[in-house]
Amino acid sequence: MTLENIKLDIDFVRSQFPAFKHPLSKDWSFFENAGGSYVPQNVIDKLNEFMTSTKVQPYADYPMSKIAGEKMDHASKLFADMINAKENEILIGGSTSINLYVLSNALKHFIKPGDEIIVTNQDHEANISPWRRLKDVGAKIVEWKFNKKTHELEIDELKKIINKKTKILAVTHCSNIVGSINDLKKISKIAHRYNTIVIGDGVSYAPHGFPNVKELGVDFYTFSLYKTFGPHLALLYGKEEILKQLPNQNHEFLNDKSPYNINPGGPNHEELASLIGIYEYYQNLYYQHYGDSNETILRKINKINKLISDHEEAIGNPILNYINNRKDLVLIGKNNIKNKNRAPTISFFSKYKKSKEISDFLINNKIATRNDNFYAWRCLKHLNIDVDDGVVRLSIVHYNNKSDTEKLIETLEQFK
Ligand SMILES: Cc1ncc(COP(=O)(O)O)c(C=O)c1O
Repeated sequence: MTLENIKLDIDFVRSQFPAFKHPLSKDWSFFENAGGSYVPQNVIDKLNEFMTSTKVQPYADYPMSKIAGEKMDHASKLFADMINAKENEILIGGSTSINLYVLSNALKHFIKPGDEIIVTNQDHEANISPWRRLKDVGAKIVEWKFNKKTHELEIDELKKIINKKTKILAVTHCSNIVGSINDLKKISKIAHRYNTIVIGDGVSYAPHGFPNVKELGVDFYTFSLYKTFGPHLALLYGKEEILKQLPNQNHEFLNDKSPYNINPGGPNHEELASLIGIYEYYQNLYYQHYGDSNETILRKINKINKLISDHEEAIGNPILNYINNRKDLVLIGKNNIKNKNRAPTISFFSKYKKSKEISDFLINNKIATRNDNFYAWRCLKHLNIDVDDGVVRLSIVHYNNKSDTEKLIETLEQFK
């Protein structure tokens, strides 16, 4: 077998996640991953280890405290390496919503009346509201609307609305409803011609492969670690040169230009340290498939990303195909995954029945899902979908398997 033919060892993957053995969850097919993912044993171990041995205030000179600080720094360093950022370019906060709110508060100091800000109607509200709020300091808010027929954000539309006055462009890397992957690299290139700061929301992208932020060229990027197999935290990346210019929103005397100064407080210590477990899990995945090697973290991540996306494509496409062929169901977004043009975050609704009815039926058959607007209510409104009943969303990550797909299709087949 050549390296190109290596397939994800799904049994190995599932053996790393205790939820697949737990009495409460073991019989379920889990399709709520875009809400929050399961965690591998490594993360649980790291959390447990921190809580039992180093759960003291970090960065003092006694061993428990010193080691606590070292673990936290190590976790940040690993995550910076994993996404191709520098250590002083990331901060770990409580959630993406908090991170973006804090960031908009910091960036508002650079906004003058008459400046323009572009937000989309495809994003989760976390990357819309904080920017729309800047109208309070005089910004004009311009909406980049997605195409109602294709459900895509079109670059040609962006070109029509961006101009010299555009200071910020907030756009999702992947919509948590539509699933399409937006070309942030191209978008950033266009935006930078106008000196516009690009804020990419990677929450729905990162669970399917960690991003390379430098390659994307974005100025800020965020994703929720509790959806990338970790605890309830979120990462914010910012370019060093911009982060350095942001005002200190922490205690007045803290002027060391750390990215954390935009936060009115520090990170959750034990959860930050447990992120080492995500890295270890990825290392184990790499070792399982490619053995020992001296590759850089980034190259390893690239290879794992490819394994993951090939697997997700193989188990996601039959679902897309099935829903797309049902006359009574309406699929949102592209009907096929190819070359990672789409995440396996699959939203649909029925022409005749409530989404709640479908979701209840699936849950009664031990398929974990949900009907909702998933806080992308502008996206649902644009598609004239009832925002309370919402859509049914089936979201896959790499630990889902072929049996999940088959069970889901068999169950949906009974719902007519
Ligand atoms: C695409 C997207 N962006 C942002 C968020 C908000 O993330 P958090 O829950 O970390 O605030 C979510 C949460 O579901 C999301 O799906």
